[in-house]
Amino acid sequence: MKEAIVDVLRCPLTRGKLTLEIYEKEEKKYSNQTISEVKSGLLVSPSGYLFPVVNGVPRLQAESFLEHDDFLRKHKKDYDVLKKKIVEEYDFVIKQAIKRNKKTKQSFGMEWSVFRHGSDTTWGFNKESRKERFLKEINSTAEELKGKKLFDVGCGNGVLTSGIAEFGMETFGIDVSNSVEKAYINNQNPSVHYVQGDLQLPPFASESFDIVYSTGVIHHTNNTELSFSCISELTKRGGKLYIWLYKPEKDFKHNALNFARSVTNKFPIKAQYWIFLILLVPQGLLKMRLRGIKRNWREQLINYFDVLSCEFRYEHTPEETEIWYLKRDFEKPVVTFVEYLGFGMYGVKKQ
Ligand SMILES: C[S@@+](CC[C@H](N)C(=O)[O-])C[C@H]1O[C@@H](n2cnc3c(N)ncnc32)[C@H](O)[C@@H]1O
Repeated sequence: MKEAIVDVLRCPLTRGKLTLEIYEKEEKKYSNQTISEVKSGLLVSPSGYLFPVVNGVPRLQAESFLEHDDFLRKHKKDYDVLKKKIVEEYDFVIKQAIKRNKKTKQSFGMEWSVFRHGSDTTWGFNKESRKERFLKEINSTAEELKGKKLFDVGCGNGVLTSGIAEFGMETFGIDVSNSVEKAYINNQNPSVHYVQGDLQLPPFASESFDIVYSTGVIHHTNNTELSFSCISELTKRGGKLYIWLYKPEKDFKHNALNFARSVTNKFPIKAQYWIFLILLVPQGLLKMRLRGIKRNWREQLINYFDVLSCEFRYEHTPEETEIWYLKRDFEKPVVTFVEYLGFGMYGVKKQ
């Protein structure tokens, strides 16, 4: 984590400015320079809320301090007293956050742990093809993006977040899962920042970003429109908000998969891994080969996790989503992608 981003980050609960205590620094190598960064530390909000920085990544979720209990106890002398105070004051918020994020973290955490940076594609797309698609999604040219600040909400493996920074943007990727750790390690661009965060409690001030971008994410939360509302706030006046969402389909395969998910997502996460790997990946790879599509076992396994593991997977129509934009002071949104499973849409926030 670069020290300078402390000015941009906010306490996700109170939106107060954070102060940084540094425990350990590291020399982080990027493609063309080395930067001295914070490897471990602590971000403290004015209310006394504690957010650890672990393995170079700020952990800015309501429940982060509980997940890094030992780390905090080691570094903060009076941690148990401080913890008691936080738990007493924010008990409800913490319990709600744990409840809504627990399974999503496990499922996507496992999904992205399989991904191999540098060699694997994300659903068949490599970095360059995702960058090309991104320009079409938000209806921009590379020149228009120079100097812009972008928030990639639910950044997953971070290949896109780091890739589109090559257009000359400063990009911030957050994800609820641990995927941000590998995204941080593999990032080669110093204009990219990764944070572990919950999009329903985003750790930034309102209207911070020229572009808020979220592909395939908010329908995986407990309430898609609420999530839309939370991220729409972060878009600057005159800025763009892009989302890609699943849409309803009526065919047999789609219904069968929805039913199958309602069973498979109840299994413990390690059992899901072995079931998908042993029972589904071999026949999936064979089908792909017969169709002439090149996929390796990890890419295939990630597909199965994506379809069969998540707790929440809602479907929406472009018509209902258009209303979400209009209600929140955006101009009439534009649909830029319609595909078998979903659609992509962007809107510009009124000046
Ligand atoms: C299908 S993946 C898409 C990843 C990425 N946008 C991409 O296109 O490669 C959905 C991602 O959303 C993340 N996610 C789900 N709920 C979230 C939340 N409440 N806050 C932040 N990220 C979330 C998941 O952890 C997962 O990495």
